[in-house]
Amino acid sequence: MPFNILNGKEFYRPLAPFLRELPTDYIGTMAKVQARHGDLVHWRNFGGMMNFAFISDPQVNRELFVRNIDALAKSPSQIQTFLYAAGETVATAHGDDWRKKRKEANSLFSRSAVEASCAGQVAVTKAYISRLDPTPQDALTVAKRMAALTASRGILGREISLDEADIQIAFSKAAAERFNAESAQLFARPDWMQAPKRRALTRCKNEVFPIVRQAIDALRNTNTPNDGLMNHYVNGTFVTSSDAEMQSILVGLLMGAQDNIAAAAAWIFAFLAQHPDLQRDIHSQVKSIGSQADDLNSCAIVRATVLEVLRIRPPAPANQPRRLTKPIAVAGHRLPKGTYVFNSFYNMHHNAADFAQPERFDPTRFLDGTLERSPSFTPFGHGPRNCVAQGMAVQQLMAIIVGTLQGHRIISQQAALPETTQKPFLVPAPFKVTFEKCASP
Ligand code: HEM
Repeated sequence: MPFNILNGKEFYRPLAPFLRELPTDYIGTMAKVQARHGDLVHWRNFGGMMNFAFISDPQVNRELFVRNIDALAKSPSQIQTFLYAAGETVATAHGDDWRKKRKEANSLFSRSAVEASCAGQVAVTKAYISRLDPTPQDALTVAKRMAALTASRGILGREISLDEADIQIAFSKAAAERFNAESAQLFARPDWMQAPKRRALTRCKNEVFPIVRQAIDALRNTNTPNDGLMNHYVNGTFVTSSDAEMQSILVGLLMGAQDNIAAAAAWIFAFLAQHPDLQRDIHSQVKSIGSQADDLNSCAIVRATVLEVLRIRPPAPANQPRRLTKPIAVAGHRLPKGTYVFNSFYNMHHNAADFAQPERFDPTRFLDGTLERSPSFTPFGHGPRNCVAQGMAVQQLMAIIVGTLQGHRIISQQAALPETTQKPFLVPAPFKVTFEKCASP
């Protein structure tokens, strides 16, 4: 399929309103572009001085993000927020530095290192859910706390308190708000408007770093290894140049995990509440299993449910926009240096050509393992700069399902599925659920 090359106003509308709409309604804007102009669009402005590429073709996206990964710079807004919040990590690195850091991060997230904390993640989920009142709860709050508790259990190797979980949640919220403000700044908002967001992030950062610092000190003082990823730095073969670097890596991972996992967990509650039959099916399979990774992996429907939720409501609905650092050719078309590249996972996940009845929630479509490998299924991004922690993410979400449904039933207080909101993560509009203790959902 050739690129559709459009100039200035013939594309959509004049530039300014379009650019204002894009960050606040990424999915809707991308869907309109795709519907009006096709899967491959090159939009040229000011005689080709400012270029945008909108790519909704899975194969071309893969070609772009695999073969041309070195030409795709992350957006300045994303880099600035991560740099400020956590410091230099794999998420902010470029070029050779990124390759080195990413190689280390890939081996840190080895299957055995990730699986070591699975039972701990199920245990913290169960402990939290059993403390909840059997009254309607704000589902997003529960999901955020479960995300923080299970992420810390996997990354730091320890159970954190609810107060510490709330500090992590506030930190990630402040980072997302600063990120939104920075993204808007790209589209010409004055710098002074961002100052309050930066101050809020500073306050939250000053509370999160000590939690990680104390976890490192506690592990060093016990002489007993734990099963978290941090153990590989403190007691294992991963060496950092300084404790400050180690803290940045760990805070960066906690931040990378928080909002994505919270959004996915909230959608899991929403969809499970709509599908009591699925809850019963999962319960019958998980009621008497253990909580090690092998136990969870033996229940295909649990993994399939996680994947279907990530398809139908991908927490990150798109790759962060990339900017070309050099001209490249994709699908036989040359895109100039400086082009902003946009794509939408959400739209690819809702394409009927790849996913039959895409609006239907149906975990069984993932049972035979084929769709998971499809280039159209990209909740974790494409190519070598995709999510480094996808194994951990899927495990965390499986642990949340198993830890919840082994002893509880999820009941929604509303008949319909909640609306979708973008902040910039794809989260359900507020809704309430009851976690009702039961022998069988
Ligand atoms: C359902 C949960 C998750 C989803 C949907 C998700 C999605 C993504 C996506 C789409 C990217 C690429 C973003 C871009 O480059 O534009 C990414 C990168 C990343 N994710 Fe995740 N993620 C999830 C969970 C996690 C967890 C649990 C962690 C940490 C434990 C994590 C850490 C990271 C890091 C460090 C990167 C940057 C990788 C690099 O730049 O090389 N993510 N994630």
